[in-house]
Amino acid sequence: MICMANPIPILVLLCLIHSTEETCPSMCLCTSDTVSCSSSGLTKLPKLLPTFSITLDLNHNHFSWLRAGSFSRMSRLETLRMAHNQLTGLMYGVFENASSIRYLDLSSNKLRVVEQHYFHGLWRLEELILFNNKITQVEPGTLSSLSSLKKVYFSLNQLTNFPFFSIQDHSQPFLTMLDLSSNHITRLPWEDVKALPSLVQRGLFLHNNSFICDCSMYSVFWHWDLRGFDTLRDFMEEHTCSIYGDPRASIQFLRQSRFFNNCSVEKAVSQPMTVLLSKVFVSEGQRVKLDCQTFLTSTNISFTWLSPKQGLITQYNINDAAMRMFANGTLEIQAAKVNDSGLYLCTAMDIIHELNATREINVTVLFPAAEPFNTGYTTLLGCVVTVVLILIYLYSTPCRCSCCKQPKPPVISAAAYDPGNLTSVFSTCTGDQQKIHKNKHVAFLQPMLSEQGFD
Ligand SMILES: *[C@@H]1O[C@H](CO)[C@@H](O)[C@H](O)[C@H]1NC(C)=O
Ligand SMILES: *[C@@H]1O[C@H](CO)[C@@H](O)[C@H](O)[C@H]1NC(C)=O
Ligand SMILES: *[C@@H]1O[C@H](CO)[C@@H](O)[C@H](O)[C@H]1NC(C)=O
Ligand SMILES: *[C@@H]1O[C@H](CO)[C@@H](O)[C@H](O)[C@H]1NC(C)=O
Ligand SMILES: *[C@@H]1O[C@H](CO)[C@@H](O)[C@H](O)[C@H]1NC(C)=O
Ligand SMILES: *[C@@H]1O[C@H](CO)[C@@H](O)[C@H](O)[C@H]1NC(C)=O
Ligand SMILES: *[C@@H]1O[C@H](CO)[C@@H](O)[C@H](O)[C@H]1NC(C)=O
Repeated sequence: MICMANPIPILVLLCLIHSTEETCPSMCLCTSDTVSCSSSGLTKLPKLLPTFSITLDLNHNHFSWLRAGSFSRMSRLETLRMAHNQLTGLMYGVFENASSIRYLDLSSNKLRVVEQHYFHGLWRLEELILFNNKITQVEPGTLSSLSSLKKVYFSLNQLTNFPFFSIQDHSQPFLTMLDLSSNHITRLPWEDVKALPSLVQRGLFLHNNSFICDCSMYSVFWHWDLRGFDTLRDFMEEHTCSIYGDPRASIQFLRQSRFFNNCSVEKAVSQPMTVLLSKVFVSEGQRVKLDCQTFLTSTNISFTWLSPKQGLITQYNINDAAMRMFANGTLEIQAAKVNDSGLYLCTAMDIIHELNATREINVTVLFPAAEPFNTGYTTLLGCVVTVVLILIYLYSTPCRCSCCKQPKPPVISAAAYDPGNLTSVFSTCTGDQQKIHKNKHVAFLQPMLSEQGFD
């Protein structure tokens, strides 16, 4: 009875208990799974941050240090933003028990040396953002335990070197971007760079550094340019080097390659790589042309094909009257048979520069479409299904007309079932048939269009 008489204080008490557990600090904004305390003038973490947050935004504050285990109570934390703070370093164990972090933004701080222990235990980390700090050194092994890493940003720092040897296929299998642009790198250990996994090479940004022009640098970039890496194409002008280290004699080396005339470009950086994998669909009896266009642009290229039926094909050993191979590498099958289907692999060899490139084409030869029969069959089936459905509907829904005042347009009452209505049933069916017909045409056009594209 007393309880019933005074429910409000109990509610308030419950409310207080609750709020001490999962409160939102007054300077922050909390939503379902996000806590934003950006631009709040913070110098240390609020005592009671909601433990369930997935995103914590601490951008634009005044943090200069973080204690060990700062985020250990936030077991679900995936995104931590701490850009635009005053961090000069990280203590041991800052990210202890915070291994759910996948995205870590420490850009625009004052970090100087990235020490080996900084990101220890963040094995789920996918993006590490460290641009615009004062970083002069990255200790080897810093990234080695970060096995989920996809993108790392070190641009706009003061790096003069980077421990490339610590990045390997087995330690960072998913790494596709390493941004080292706008640093102070003059020379790189090119042997280590060339040994990087090819995905990392493709995503390595090195523009706007302080490179000194030399032949090994030129050789690496020459190969990357040949392969059409976007990292080069997108920043053509920012790839500069200075002649004999004189900053006033700076050249855009992807444009003015005259300086490198005396360099002999080395052998290919790594194994032949597949440039294009495409699919071709044709109907039996049609002519197919498979081209072997790769990134190789030299005019002196020799081609070979590996076909599922014939094995190795060159321009001279072709022994199938139904096939031709042209000097430009194009392989022509005059009348494709179903058993011509399979994977065709072309290798283009630039003998002078010792470069290979391959191209794969998956050819599928389809039986000629038996359209008239198919259409008729589908239409017939469609009509039968429609009629059956209508009959089921008619016989399974008892019409309680006392309660259904509103007219239901398509209902044909069992009593009114007569040949006239039957015709209308069939006329709906013809309508459907037209639709089916149209759809079928689209379905048949698709392969023909794609096959024309390769003709
Ligand atoms: C991390 O978790 C372990 C085990 O749950 C615990 O013993 C340790 O005290 C935690 N560390 C921190 C800094 O909270
Ligand atoms: C090049 O790097 C310098 C610092 O190394 C930076 O100030 C400048 O903005 C960068 N330029 C571009 C175009 O990124
Ligand atoms: C290239 O070699 C020629 C002759 O060996 C030499 O005269 C020239 O200065 C060299 N060019 C450069 C840029 O080193
Ligand atoms: C290669 O040459 C053949 C015959 O001249 C031509 O039909 C084909 O289109 C050419 N292929 C390419 C990719 O230029
Ligand atoms: C492929 O099929 C054609 C007929 O469609 C036949 O003449 C030929 O022998 C077959 N080739 C192979 C290797 O099975
Ligand atoms: C290119 O391929 C040919 C034939 O497969 C091979 O003999 C040669 O060693 C390869 N060259 C390079 C640079 O991989
Ligand atoms: C080629 O394409 C066919 C049909 O799409 C597919 O079943 C087959 O697995 C493909 N083969 C390869 C090697 O990709």
